[in-house]
Amino acid sequence: MTPPVTHSDTATHLGAPARLSAHGWGWRHAGRRAWAVRALDVSIEPGERVLLLGPSGSGKSTLLAGLAGVLGGAEEGETEGTLRVDRDQPAAARGRVGLVLQDPESHAVMARVGDDVAFGPENLGVPRDEIWSRVDAALAAVGLDVGRAHSTSALSGGQKQRLALAGVLAMRPGALLLDEPTANLDPAGAREVRDAVAEVIDRTGATLLVVEHRVDLWHDLVNRVLVLGADGSLIADGTPARILEERGAELAAGGVWVPGREPRLASRPAGSAGPEMVSATALRVARERGRPLPWTLDATFSAGETVALTGPNGVGKSTLALTLAGLVPPAAGSVDASPELAGGLAGAPHRWRSRELLTRFGMVFQAPEHQFVAATVREELAVGPRSLGLSEAEVEAHVGGLLDRLGLAALAGANPFTLSGGQKRRLSVGTALATRPRVLLLDEPTFGQDALSWASLVELIDEVRAEGSAVIAASHDEHFVREAATTQLRLTAAGVGS
Ligand SMILES: Nc1ncnc2c1ncn2[C@@H]1O[C@H](COP(=O)(O)OP(=O)(O)OP(=O)(O)O)[C@@H](O)[C@H]1O
Ligand SMILES: [Mg+2]
Repeated sequence: MTPPVTHSDTATHLGAPARLSAHGWGWRHAGRRAWAVRALDVSIEPGERVLLLGPSGSGKSTLLAGLAGVLGGAEEGETEGTLRVDRDQPAAARGRVGLVLQDPESHAVMARVGDDVAFGPENLGVPRDEIWSRVDAALAAVGLDVGRAHSTSALSGGQKQRLALAGVLAMRPGALLLDEPTANLDPAGAREVRDAVAEVIDRTGATLLVVEHRVDLWHDLVNRVLVLGADGSLIADGTPARILEERGAELAAGGVWVPGREPRLASRPAGSAGPEMVSATALRVARERGRPLPWTLDATFSAGETVALTGPNGVGKSTLALTLAGLVPPAAGSVDASPELAGGLAGAPHRWRSRELLTRFGMVFQAPEHQFVAATVREELAVGPRSLGLSEAEVEAHVGGLLDRLGLAALAGANPFTLSGGQKRRLSVGTALATRPRVLLLDEPTFGQDALSWASLVELIDEVRAEGSAVIAASHDEHFVREAATTQLRLTAAGVGS
């Protein structure tokens, strides 16, 4: 028997692999009728490597938050049963588990990269001279080689994800809880982060509990898979090989991305383009106050097309999307609207007024949280159609249809800010689709989706394209690019390819 760990000797156990367990545990978020997680009995032994799967909204993030001791403070709700980290309540096991949240934007707290990574160890009282060697080691482990003094706000989404992981690694926790750590990364970056995690747990023996929708990346690293069902109960527990072989069909039907059973669109979009909407000529783009990015773009974007913008993290896909939407002026060259799109307006889109942009461009930013304006999911979807002057009956019918297809009908009355990560993303794409804009710009539209919600979301986007919008989507989702794009523009530091 291991001796009980009391608070006075917790510090000496820092770094030793942690045991995570749930005994009849459940959590119901304040304001919700349904329990997010229910009657969970599971025990994860020190050093086990576990992949946690389940459809969007099944309670994966809630369980991680519970184990990290962050439920019950600011996060209100009702609980049943117990959770333990070793023998302690999670809130008493400070520093024993390191949680990397689903939204990398919510992580960076300090202005500079080095200080941000040092924040955790400083809080744990790690001696100063040790902090900086930990910081450097953690930054190297995640492959973030921008230097300690680099500004955190100048990092791309994927770089922020690496930063968040480095911040947790620097605390040397006994368990790593990772909530979709690669959702915003390019495929090479996703493999790098996975390898970094592998190296850390090989070296430290730390327990790993990772949530991710795409199974293939983690399949070989983990030795156990847990699956939550849509109702938040545990529906499968076993080795990856057994679970995916024996229950692959059933799990795929429930929305798990089972390798070899990925969803397909009914038909690939045909490439017959309609009228041109926007063109870029010798276009250079730049981030706010930054230098122009190293590539130059000549391209046209037409109705009936879905153009996928691909390329490594930080290459400028999001900045290009903002520039094409008229929200950021070009650094050089031009963005021109066709007469069809301009409808009588003169000049380049970045000179148009916001109302003129709004009725022509629909835009979904990379971080959905920063976009919501209404108090309920239903109202959020109604904002756009209402501003176009549709009658209340039309708005209601339209919103009702979207709620169903986005899998959000049961959450129509919920506050958008309380949705799960995948639910938020579907809502923000839905709000942009709702006005049927002539040009639809989407930044990572499919991240965080289980296989079923992915399929209905991609079908919706493709309908908008087929009805005559130009769709431009920055995406790392190779599956989306393969199934739904008519053209691919690959941005690299060396130039633009297709
Ligand atoms: N702060 C909150 N307040 C109210 N309800 C919440 C809150 N956070 C999550 N929920 C709800 O609890 C349920 C489980 O959410 P959770 O975020 O744990 O799901 P998830 O499995 O991580 O989903 P995803 O794959 O989309 O990230 C969802 O129905 C969600 O809307
Ligand atoms: Mg989640």
